[in-house]
Amino acid sequence: MPEQTFTSGVVPSGWPLLGHAWPLFKAPFAFLASLPQHGDLVEMRLGPTRVYVPTHPELLRQTLVDDRTFDKGGTYYDRAREMAGNGVATCPHQDHRRQRRLLQPAFHEAQLDKYATVMEQQIADLTASWGTGHSFEAYPVLYGLALRIVTHTLFSTHVDDAVTEDIRESFDVVFSNFFRRMFVPQAVNRLPLPGNRRHREALALLRGAVERVITESRGGDDGNNVLAALLAAHKAEGATVVDSELRDHIVTVLAAGSETVASTLTWSLYLLSQNREAQDALQREADARLAGPLAVWSEVPALPYTHRVITETIRLYPPGWLFTRVTSTGTELAGRHLKPGTTVVITPVPVHRNPAVFSRPDAFDPDRWLPERAATLPRGAFAGFGAGARKCIGDAYGVGECTLALASVARRWQVETLPVPDVRPVPLAAFYRPRRLFLRVKRRNEP
Ligand code: HEM
Repeated sequence: MPEQTFTSGVVPSGWPLLGHAWPLFKAPFAFLASLPQHGDLVEMRLGPTRVYVPTHPELLRQTLVDDRTFDKGGTYYDRAREMAGNGVATCPHQDHRRQRRLLQPAFHEAQLDKYATVMEQQIADLTASWGTGHSFEAYPVLYGLALRIVTHTLFSTHVDDAVTEDIRESFDVVFSNFFRRMFVPQAVNRLPLPGNRRHREALALLRGAVERVITESRGGDDGNNVLAALLAAHKAEGATVVDSELRDHIVTVLAAGSETVASTLTWSLYLLSQNREAQDALQREADARLAGPLAVWSEVPALPYTHRVITETIRLYPPGWLFTRVTSTGTELAGRHLKPGTTVVITPVPVHRNPAVFSRPDAFDPDRWLPERAATLPRGAFAGFGAGARKCIGDAYGVGECTLALASVARRWQVETLPVPDVRPVPLAAFYRPRRLFLRVKRRNEP
C-alpha cells in the first residue's frame, strides 16, 4: 500500500499577543471545526506559544499513540500538574507505565462491579427526589451526582458531605480558570492578584480535603474502593506508600472522573430532549431490557442503544476537548520538522466534526455507531477517550455510569429543555459545558 501523505498549513489572522486564543475563546468548536481547511496539520498561536494541531484522524492517532515522542507536557499539562502533581494523567512518559500499573487494578472489571452499587444508589437517590414537572439546572445537578459517585467509589461509602463540598468548591475555582491560566504568561499567574490568590487557596483546600480522607481511610473501611485497590497495588510492588503520591492519584481520578461524566450526561439529556425519535428509542430499549424501575450494572451490556447515545454525545461534545503534548525529540509530522519542545494541541473536534470523516457531522445520529456503520469509519475517527497507552483508564467506568443514569431516567421520565437555553460553552472552562441549561422531567404516560 502506498504511504499516506498529509498536507500542512498555517491558520491565518491571529490576534496580536493572543494569537488564535481569541477565536478559541469566543467560539471554540466552530473555530476548531474550521481547521481542516488549512491542512491535515495546522500551525497557529496560543498566546505567546506557536502550536501544531493534527486535524486528520490518522495524524491525531499517531500523536496519541506515540506517547514517547509526543509526551505529556505543554501549556495544558503544565497547568494540570499544579493540581494533580505527577499523577497518572499528568506525569511524563518515563513515569507513566509504573503509575498506570499501580492504578490499573482499581479499574478492573471485578472492581467496577463493586463500584456499581454506589452508582445505582446515587442515581436512585437523585431520581427519587423528582416529581412530575420537576425542573433543574442540568450541569450543577449532574455534576453533584458524578462527584458523589467518584468520591464514594474512590474512598468509601462513608465519606462525609463536608469533604465532597470542599472538593466541589475547589474544582469550581480551578476548572473555571483553567484555560485563562493556560493562555497567559506564567509570570502573570504568579502575580499577587485576587484571581491567583483564589486559585492557590482552592488548591490548598483540595489537598487538605484529600489528605484528610486518605488518613481516615488508612484506618480501614469496606475495601471496595479505588484507594484500597491502590494501597494494595503499592504493597504488592513492595513500595513504601508516599502520601503525596497517593494524593496525586486521588486528585487525578477525582478531576478526571467528575466533570467528564457530568458533561456527558448534561449533553446527552440535552440532545435527547431535542431529538424525540432518539428519546423514544432510548425509552423503548429501557422498557424492554430493564427488569426493575432503575437500571442495574448487570443490565449495562444489554443496552446497546444507550451506549450509542453516549458515544454520539461524546463525538459531538467531547468533554476533554483540548489537551497538549510536547515533543521530547525532533520529529517529522505531515512533512513538517518539529523541534524538541514543540507544543502539539490534541483536540478531537476537527476530526469529530469533519464532513470528510462523518457524514452530516453536526447531526445527532446514535445509529452511526451501529457496528456495520462504525466499521466504515477511518482509523482514529473517534478520539473521545484518547488512544494508546494514555487512553482513558476510566472509560468503562464512565460509560457504565452514564448508561445506568440514562437508562434509569428513560425508564420513567420524559426529558425536555426549558426555554431559553444558552448552550454556548462556559468560556475558558476546562471541560465543555453549557452556560445555561434547565431541564424538566415529566413522568412518562402522564399528560
Ligand atoms: C465519560 C467520560 C470520560 C471521558 C470523555 C474521558 C476522556 C478522557 C480522555 C480524552 C483522556 C486522555 C487525555 C489525554 O490523552 O491527554 C482521559 C484520560 C484519563 N481519564 Fe478519562 N474520561 C472520562 C471518564 C473518566 C472517569 C470516570 C475516570 C475515573 C474515574 C477517568 C480517569 C482518567 C484518567 C486517570 C486518565 C489518564 C490516563 C493515563 O494517562 O494513563 N476518566 N480521559
